Amino acid sequence: MSDNLVCIKDFEVHAHEVLSRNALDYYRSGAGQEETLIQNNRAFSRYKIRPRCLRNVANRDLSTTILGEKVSMPIGIAPTAMQRMAHPDGECANARAAQALGTVFTLSTIATSSIEEVTKSAPNVLKWFQLYIYKDRKVTTSLVRRAEQAGFRALVLTVDAPMFGLRLADIKNKFTLPPHLKLANFDGTKSTDINKNNEEGSGLNAYVNSLFDASVTWEDIEWLKSISTLPIVLKGILTAQDAIMGVEAGAAGIWVSNHGARQIDGTPASIEALPEIVKAVGNKVEIYLDGGIRDGTDVFKALAMGARMVFMGRPALWGLAHSGEEGVKKILTIIKTEFDYALAISGCANISDIKPSMVVHESYYSRL
Ligand code: FNR
Ligand code: LAC
Repeated sequence: MSDNLVCIKDFEVHAHEVLSRNALDYYRSGAGQEETLIQNNRAFSRYKIRPRCLRNVANRDLSTTILGEKVSMPIGIAPTAMQRMAHPDGECANARAAQALGTVFTLSTIATSSIEEVTKSAPNVLKWFQLYIYKDRKVTTSLVRRAEQAGFRALVLTVDAPMFGLRLADIKNKFTLPPHLKLANFDGTKSTDINKNNEEGSGLNAYVNSLFDASVTWEDIEWLKSISTLPIVLKGILTAQDAIMGVEAGAAGIWVSNHGARQIDGTPASIEALPEIVKAVGNKVEIYLDGGIRDGTDVFKALAMGARMVFMGRPALWGLAHSGEEGVKKILTIIKTEFDYALAISGCANISDIKPSMVVHESYYSRL
């Protein structure tokens, strides 16, 4: 195995070599024919950076704040389910890497490490909890209580998944969680059991369809606010209309995302959806973005276009598949370094030096 891995793409190629088919397909896939999956990344190259010169960038500061808390860089870890398929330490290793780099880690509801295990493994990481709403509200309420007790600082309510998208490889593979792993936030009874129903296709979709609440509406944000005082971030918003409704419903943050292209194929790339949302609510709440961030210049573009923070999902899984905590530290360090270079060479000494005029759509130039 070559270990001269110098960019996130290298880690992805490596992960393709080492992961099982069941795990790799689950991690890699987008919904349907995967047009949006391709665009999530490709769309970044349609935006161009306009570097400025001679601006004294000798001393640079990459840090920022999110919901009032300091992070060392505007790049955090998005929630991805079932990380122990990539490495035995799964979410715990991922959280420790985020802790080491001084950034935020978001834990999925359907993780293979529990709220308490992650907290014990990475006691000082800034951590957010991603929430799915179960038909049985007691299940969700109990998750919220445990997250509060464990010191999670925000609830990330995923609003783009009344059902999970159709990921064709998972259907073909009849995806299941390997039997030595479990959905660790649950007690082993019905909410844990994802492996019972995969005869017809993806075991995950069968699980979600039977237990998640597809009837959730904006009123349930009221309900969530009534049971917790943690700030609520709405993840999966792609339109100005929903961003405005989210702000009216009391969200502290809007997380622009198409769920890594896993929900409905044919949506815009998340970076393409960002401008209308920034325009609608950018002066009211913090705006985050995920989807296709693979390089420091992607981070620069997203920030110039109005995101306060970006998050990565799959790259952390590729890091885990390589070498657990060390691997995630490597991918975070690589993208931090790339972002530092992008900052310096475009004439910025810190995040607030990145101005909207420094990134334009390619149509500004291309008349060929
Ligand atoms: C996800 N995502 C996700 N989102 C969420 O809110 N809860 C979850 O449990 C999961 N699980 C999950 C598993 C896997 C394997 C992937 C790839 C994604 C979506 C995730 O938070 C994020 O939106 C995307 O991964 C961002 O795109 P990139 O960085 O993977 O391109
Ligand atoms: C997914 C879920 C877990 O994308 O959000 O697979």
